[in-house]
Amino acid sequence: MLVLGIETSCDETAAAIVRDGTETLSDVIVSQIDVHTEYGGVVPELASRMHSEAISLVLERAFNDAEVRPEQIEGIGVTRGPGLIGALLVGIGAAKGMAIALERPICGVNHLHGHLFAIFLERDDVAFPCIGLVVSGGHTSLYYLQGPLEIKLVGRTRDDAAGEAFDKVAKLLGLGYPGGSIIEQQALGVDPGDLKFPRALMEKDNLDFSFSGLKTAVLRRVQQITGVKSRTDIPGSFHPFISKQLSDSLRHERRVIAAAFQEAVADVLTVKAFMAAEKFGVDRLIVCGGVAANGALRMKMRQEGSRRGIEPVFPSVRLCTDNAAMIASRADTLFSAGLSDDLNFGAMSRW
Ligand code: KG4
Ligand code: ZN
Repeated sequence: MLVLGIETSCDETAAAIVRDGTETLSDVIVSQIDVHTEYGGVVPELASRMHSEAISLVLERAFNDAEVRPEQIEGIGVTRGPGLIGALLVGIGAAKGMAIALERPICGVNHLHGHLFAIFLERDDVAFPCIGLVVSGGHTSLYYLQGPLEIKLVGRTRDDAAGEAFDKVAKLLGLGYPGGSIIEQQALGVDPGDLKFPRALMEKDNLDFSFSGLKTAVLRRVQQITGVKSRTDIPGSFHPFISKQLSDSLRHERRVIAAAFQEAVADVLTVKAFMAAEKFGVDRLIVCGGVAANGALRMKMRQEGSRRGIEPVFPSVRLCTDNAAMIASRADTLFSAGLSDDLNFGAMSRW
């Protein structure tokens, strides 16, 4: 089946054409990251406007790259949520317009299920049941995938998402946005030594996450080494690392903090994911979403996996971050099961 996927839940406008849920014929992504970087995070209204400007061209390129005509499409999958409402509506509007014009079925796809299904675009040896860990800017969720249609949420973050923690800590360290890849670069080859940040909710059988305490511990450490106290009168104004010229030793301290922070996040994600795999008796673990691009996390998971005889599998870095091929792949499973939506579905900020 030839499926068109559309993704506009956050700051990437994306369209892709995928055959049978596995063969990517085109995969177009236009990122707004440069614009949002100026503001230190995604500005929802700007995101919606930029999706509106980009969506037609992105769709046209997806068809051109795949050398497919719109009439050849057999179904349309579009991200329905979770995400920014205004941003989602741009993709949903485009998808519905095409579904009406082409008289094809449409499916509203859960963005997080999309992340889980990115793996099937690259591997044909991942079978159900398995555990899936989605670690992105907005979510940190553990799923038990009993089958393609039986996806059960078994753990989630109680406060910040792992990617959000990376972004907030990077901001705090004066490293810019988005934080994940910058922190990874800063931490590269750095030994955190004795600096150990707290790991929350680590008791046995607890599959939930919490990263806000870790973020606060980083803040305390920054205050300690810079001697700068946060200003309570202006929320979010505490950026000691950009307020002055950094000495070599402070620069080094910052890298040590980045390494210790990354290690703490990777530790928690690894322990919880394998805890879930053992609890549900599976030997496969899908790790996906933007944070799964992190090399230190991948290494830790692989080491733990070989120790326990459970294989962690990761989509390639390009398919870890937001894209439309994963949405098309997920939609293909839904269509194949005879499922589709009628045209009056709306966007969902949470799901
Ligand atoms: O899945 P994604 O592209 O968008 C959402 O659905 O949220 O994930 C974006 C998140 C951001 O928080 C970003 O900082 C994080 O993924 N990220 C990383 C890395 N690359 C992106 N986090 C850690 N290490 C990375 N290399
Ligand atoms: Zn995502």
